[in-house]
Parts: sequence; C-alpha cells; structure tokens
Amino acid sequence: TFYSSINRIIFLFCKYCSVGHLTFCSLKNLVCRQPGIMQDGYGYAVLITGCDSGFGHQLARCLDQRGFVVFAGCLCPEGAGARSLQSLSSKNLRILKLDVTSDEDVKQAKRVVQENLPEKGLWAVVNNAGISDWAEIEWSTIKDFHNMVDINLFGCIRTSIAFLPLVRATKGRMVFMSSIFSFFNCLNMGAYSVSKRGLEAFADCLRVEMASFDVKVSIIQPGNFGQATNIVRMKTAYDIWEKLDDERKQSFNQHYIKLANEYFLSTCKSGFKNADLVINAMLHAVTSAKPKSRYLLVSTMDMCFFKLFPFLPTAVTDAVFTLSSMYTKRKQIMHTHST
Ligand SMILES: NC(=O)c1ccc[n+]([C@@H]2O[C@H](COP(=O)([O-])OP(=O)(O)OC[C@H]3O[C@@H](n4cnc5c(N)ncnc54)[C@H](OP(=O)(O)O)[C@@H]3O)[C@@H](O)[C@H]2O)c1
Repeated sequence: TFYSSINRIIFLFCKYCSVGHLTFCSLKNLVCRQPGIMQDGYGYAVLITGCDSGFGHQLARCLDQRGFVVFAGCLCPEGAGARSLQSLSSKNLRILKLDVTSDEDVKQAKRVVQENLPEKGLWAVVNNAGISDWAEIEWSTIKDFHNMVDINLFGCIRTSIAFLPLVRATKGRMVFMSSIFSFFNCLNMGAYSVSKRGLEAFADCLRVEMASFDVKVSIIQPGNFGQATNIVRMKTAYDIWEKLDDERKQSFNQHYIKLANEYFLSTCKSGFKNADLVINAMLHAVTSAKPKSRYLLVSTMDMCFFKLFPFLPTAVTDAVFTLSSMYTKRKQIMHTHST
C-alpha cells in the first residue's frame, strides 16, 4: 500500500542516515582523537588546590567527569564554593580542607589521600591555589609581600614536597599555575610578580630533577582572565590611600591613586570572559603523554608580543611601560600633592 511504501522509504532513509552518521562519527573520532591523550582517568587520583572557585573549581569538575578520583583542596570546605562543587560532582570527588599555608592541613590532606588512593595511585598534583593584588611597591607593606609569597609560592612548595613521592610512584604530573606576570614586569604587580617568578624558578628546577623519574612538570601562564574567576581583589582608591603611612601620604597624590584604581579595574574587565582556554591547557598538562613545559594563554593578537617579550633587551621592555600614556599621566600627577 501507499503507507507501507512510505514507511519503507522512511525506514531505509533512517537506516542509511544512521549508517552514514556512524561512519561520520567513527571517521571524526579517528581524525580528532588526539594521540597520547589519556581518554579517562579511571583508577587514578588527582589533587587540586584552591577549588573553592575559579580555575581549580572548574578543573575539578572536568576531571571528575573524566573518571579521576579528585581530591579537591578547598580553603573553606564548608563554604558555598566547596558545597556546590560537591553537589555537582560524582561521589569520586572528595573535598579536603587545605589551606596551603598550613603545615597541619597539608599533612592531614596527605593522610586522607594516602588512605583513599585508588588502585593506580596519585597521578597529578595541580598547584592552583593563589591570590592576587595590585599596588605600587611603595604602597605595600612587607606583610603584603609575605602574604602573597606565603600562598602563591611557599604554598605550592609545601604541597609539592609533601605529595611528590606519591606522584613519582606513578610517573605522573606536577602542574603549577603561574601567570604572565612571572616575566612581564608591570607597574603595580610587584608582589604578585615576585611570587610567580619564584614559583616558576621552583617548577623549572623541579622539572630538571624529576626528568629522570619520568615525572612531567608543566607551568600554566594565563593572561587576563579576571572576569572568568574570583581573582580580582576589589578595593577602592580610598582603601589604598588609608593604608599609606604619613610619609607616603606626603609624597603620593590621591588623585593619581584614584586614576590607577579605575585603570586597573577597567583592564581587568577587558580580559577573557570564560576560562576554557586555561582549563583545556590544565587538562592537557594532566592527561597528555607529552605535556608542554609552558602554556602561554593570551589572545591570538597578544601572543606574538608575549612570546617575544622575555627576549627583548631590558631598555625595550621597560620602555613598553615608560612610554605608555598611563605612565606619562603618572609622571605628571603622581608627585604633585593634592589631598
Ligand atoms: N584569573 C586570572 O586572570 C589569572 C591569571 C593568571 C594566573 N592566575 C592564577 O590562577 C590561580 C587560580 O586563580 P583563579 O583565577 O581561579 O582565582 P580564584 O577564583 O580566586 O581561585 C583561587 C582559589 O585559591 C583559593 N585560595 C586562596 N588562598 C588560599 C590558601 N591559602 N590555601 C588554599 N587555597 C587558597 C581561593 O579560595 P577563596 O575563594 O576561598 O579565597 C580560591 O578558591 C591562581 O594561582 C592565580 O594566581 C589567575
């Protein structure tokens, strides 16, 4: 009949479509399947620090979805970030209280990891926890520097030393979250740069030492992802001004601090709006058979500049700032006293 012929045509059409679809998918898988990428992490564990928010939080979810047992270190295990991470993840993700500045927290975290390791062991440690702040060096105190370095540098060193034997046993991965400010010497980023440059020195030395154990060490260098995470510390020009001692209040101009604050906040808003580029690089560092030593994550337009920057003579790299319009304004108004 007419209807059974139509049915048959539809049936054949669907059959050919599904065969075609299957062939297309298999071809696509063949072409797109990246060689040397761990397809799943079943049986392996990873430890990530700083999972309350931002990159750490997102990476924890991705690795959980890929079958890893994830130990997600959180500064506030009872906080909203940790709770949402737990509720969105499988039972293989475990929140750990881990303030990277605390010997006791790291010791306790190691105990929990060791007691709950899956059969293949600890594959990777992702040293992600960090803070950022901005201020000219003279607007900072030694305490500001200490705090930055305690978290961003010593926090990573403390965690790495504790967990290295476990990662060495699996010939796994050590991943360090640095920043372009490890080599890009910029106005206002003194304390942050000190911490990230120190971190890269540590990671570079570690890579050389770990090579003979087949442990791969990667450094991630994101550019401006201030809008994609919680990293930007909000403060007003007044907050900065109030912190200055009388001697600095005599020398610096309040109007300039306001201008610098506005400039900094508007720069943060011009960055990447989502963290995909960084998360993909972190995933590559954890799962690829050939992870890169460095992942520079800036826009395509900026890539050439940042690749070149470390090789330029100091006079040229300094001039990038001293010839900028912000620097000119700074020179004009910074030292004129107007409170
Ligand atoms: N976003 C960017 O533009 C950018 C660029 C370059 C590099 N980075 C680096 O990327 C890493 C992750 O930052 P993010 O952008 O994802 O910012 P984020 O959202 O603020 O994440 C940082 C995480 O570290 C945690 N943390 C802070 N102090 C800690 C401590 N003492 N112990 C353990 N955890 C601590 C924070 O907890 P709380 O939320 O409770 O404070 C937060 O969960 C940092 O190392 C940062 O320097 C970020």
